Amino acid sequence: MSLTFDQILSWLQEDDGPRLDSLWQEADRVRREQVGEEVHLRGLLEISNYCDRACQYCGIRQPNVHLDRYRMTPEEIRAGADEAVARGYGTVVLQAGEDPALDLSVLCDVIRRIKNETPLAVTLSLGERTVAELAACRRAGADRYLLRFETSNWELLEHLHPPRAGDPPTHRLDLLRVLDELEYEVGSGVMVGLPGQTLADLARDVLLFQQLDLDMIGIGPYIPHPHTPLFQKLRTADPPCAGQATADELTTYKMMALARLACPQANIPSTTALATVNPQAGPLLGLARGANVLMPNLTPAPYRRRYEIYPHKAGSERTSAESANVALEQVLALGRRVGCGRGDSVKRRMRCRATVPGPTE
Ligand code: 5AD
Repeated sequence: MSLTFDQILSWLQEDDGPRLDSLWQEADRVRREQVGEEVHLRGLLEISNYCDRACQYCGIRQPNVHLDRYRMTPEEIRAGADEAVARGYGTVVLQAGEDPALDLSVLCDVIRRIKNETPLAVTLSLGERTVAELAACRRAGADRYLLRFETSNWELLEHLHPPRAGDPPTHRLDLLRVLDELEYEVGSGVMVGLPGQTLADLARDVLLFQQLDLDMIGIGPYIPHPHTPLFQKLRTADPPCAGQATADELTTYKMMALARLACPQANIPSTTALATVNPQAGPLLGLARGANVLMPNLTPAPYRRRYEIYPHKAGSERTSAESANVALEQVLALGRRVGCGRGDSVKRRMRCRATVPGPTE
């Protein structure tokens, strides 16, 4: 089923409880029918909080001098992958800021080791990288790449996410195309409620999910970080723009449910940002309104508090074992099952099956 702009926008404007219940039910039904009852757990390793960008919303932006920076060693990353295996996960996600000193040949070596020595799928979330780097990581065995386009209001994005000094603006859509050509499973997504973002912008985001036919879609509310220009601007600036989208839970659930309807077979996580605005019910409601993935944080204790893209990030005071237990309890509380195996993209598996010729009779 293809959604139109008007349908999406009217859901985003809907505030009638029973009508919204029908949206949640439909998203849950499509989720069950298309990707089943399994909730896939992805072990998250935040491998470096260095970043040489200056995104106005993000706490690990390069100009933030209040942050203690760290970079995990290859041995720590390799050990994190072992922990993911020990906890029964099928995927490890390596996430970092755009850290120019994160040596890609070293990283490729770790990816190769993880791929040779464990059954894990490897997902990368390393921001904007060159085509050569993305190709090298893919050759090393990385399976998936997450790169949110953040908002399809490109003018707003360029303002909030400026290029490095002297660089031309990069277009994340071009990189998403490159990732697809390199045969990564491709994930993208947006923040909800960025200052200057309207409900019409969010409706266009959902249309773009549909058009890109994404394998993975991450959606979370924007959470102001005090050491960012956007936080300062929010405190002092003019009233919100006409039609400003609110950075709240309800709008986030609507976006997740609509993402499920737009891309029925996508893997959709219930995100940490959502758990941050509602630690108790957020993850459960996310999973009941379209999501089928959780990403327990396995970043070692000395580092995880420092990966502060926004304040009071859910789970930053937990140990890996606690994060893993919380995720497990959430899945069981819903009467769902923990996913077995890697939890690959159903859509991509079907596409491969369609293009790879079967054995001849
Ligand atoms: N609030 C919520 N999400 C944020 N991200 C970055 N900064 C914030 C913030 N202040 C999200 C972006 C990025 C992902 C890794 O984290 O969408 O792609």
